[in-house]
Amino acid sequence: MALLAIDQGTTSTRAIVFDDALSPIASAQREFRQIFPRPGWVEHDPEDIWATAVATAAEAMARAGLRAADVAGLGVTNQRETVVVWERATGKAIHNAIVWQDRRTAETCARMKAEGLEPKITAKTGLVLDPYFSATKLGWILDHVEGARARAEAGEFMFGTVDAYLIWRLTGGTAHATDATNAARTLLYDIRAGRFDDELCAAFGAPAAMLPEVRDSSGDFGETLPELFGGPIRILGVAGDQQAATVGQACFRPGMAKVTYGTGAFALLHTGEEPVASSNKLLTTVALQLAGRRTYALEGAIFVAGAAVQWLRDGLKLIREAAETQALAEAADPEQDVYLVPAFVGLGAPHWDAEARAALIGLTRGTGQAEIARAALESVGYQTADLVAAMRADWPAGDVGATLRVDGGMTASDWTLQFLADILDAPVDRPEIVETTALGAAYLAGLAAGVCPDPDGFAKSWRLERRFEPRMDAATRRRKLAGWADAVARVKSR
Ligand code: G3P
Repeated sequence: MALLAIDQGTTSTRAIVFDDALSPIASAQREFRQIFPRPGWVEHDPEDIWATAVATAAEAMARAGLRAADVAGLGVTNQRETVVVWERATGKAIHNAIVWQDRRTAETCARMKAEGLEPKITAKTGLVLDPYFSATKLGWILDHVEGARARAEAGEFMFGTVDAYLIWRLTGGTAHATDATNAARTLLYDIRAGRFDDELCAAFGAPAAMLPEVRDSSGDFGETLPELFGGPIRILGVAGDQQAATVGQACFRPGMAKVTYGTGAFALLHTGEEPVASSNKLLTTVALQLAGRRTYALEGAIFVAGAAVQWLRDGLKLIREAAETQALAEAADPEQDVYLVPAFVGLGAPHWDAEARAALIGLTRGTGQAEIARAALESVGYQTADLVAAMRADWPAGDVGATLRVDGGMTASDWTLQFLADILDAPVDRPEIVETTALGAAYLAGLAAGVCPDPDGFAKSWRLERRFEPRMDAATRRRKLAGWADAVARVKSR
């Protein structure tokens, strides 16, 4: 029996079919429209999200030569925090999805902070009061679509992150459900109690009648409408994409960490059954919920990782293809300490400085293309080092980052991973299967379907493709990290 995963990401939707040994056998991918109505606003058309999810799933199944009856289960994984509000009666969205990157509710967050609400909200949710998360985006829709609030309170509208929206439509409106990892990103969910919290819902003006039911990440989410894939498929796994990648990397034990490098990068450190509160501006989040039991993670998000290389290509036109950066970095002058602080959209964890802007620091007349390309790749390592340092400070009891498992597009670059190992002074592991997000979702579905082993068994099947061992001498590492800290201090707004 095969397993199907739909990975509904920020810029594209992918579907991957895995065989019963969890090897990928076919895939399909579609990009969709990014809508920027104003500076700082980012929207998606929910119909695009829906259409690409169904089309990629059907395409991947066709490529694998599968019928619905051959699929033991579907796992759904998704861009997190993004908000959809739709009509219960028709499934039609009442507004475009407001994407996690969207900053339109910055003022609302600032006002709530000024009212002193943040400490209590952080204590319950593990999150910071930032527009990144769902609650203020939901409030914005209810306040800006005419009559929406009253109709939402009357139970006519539904709220969901992208997983819940897809499940609702895939099941023809029979399931309005999410999983704990997605609920944990809304600012409405108490991560210890494991439920949407009345006080939080009141603070953000979120009507209880529109919230989905929160379920385990592996379990029954209903069946897809038979007409979609030529027969029903059971939806058996759901998790936010970064948590799904943590599963795909088999980081199930406290102290294990993964970083996924896409446009931005997300580091998740498993901390076990107790949520660890952060004093260093990391997020505390649900890693997974299985059989009613939640495990937790510390998470650090950086906004620009691969995007720094995209900027070299599209902004500076310094390179034609991302892959060219590797040879340039190798050729760069080792005597030159050039730093790129890629704060193009501010700085994420652990700085959370929305006003900071990017800078290239340390330029001389000898600086050229190679040194700038190297600085872009190095910026990814330095930012990861900042996250790992914050994780170590937050959780001194844990053996944080003893090894780091990495995935995502940028991990194709050996040079980047060697620098990462060097600057972290810790081994960096690249797995054989780098499609870890889809793999995690497929595994969660396979676990519920009874065709996959338990997490310990699955962890044994994780295969290392290559380990990068640190080689940099301590003095060089110290010098480089000090130079980075100085460069970051220069771009900060306060
Ligand atoms: O928190 C946002 C994250 O889930 C988005 O991931 O891979 O769609 O950029 P991605």
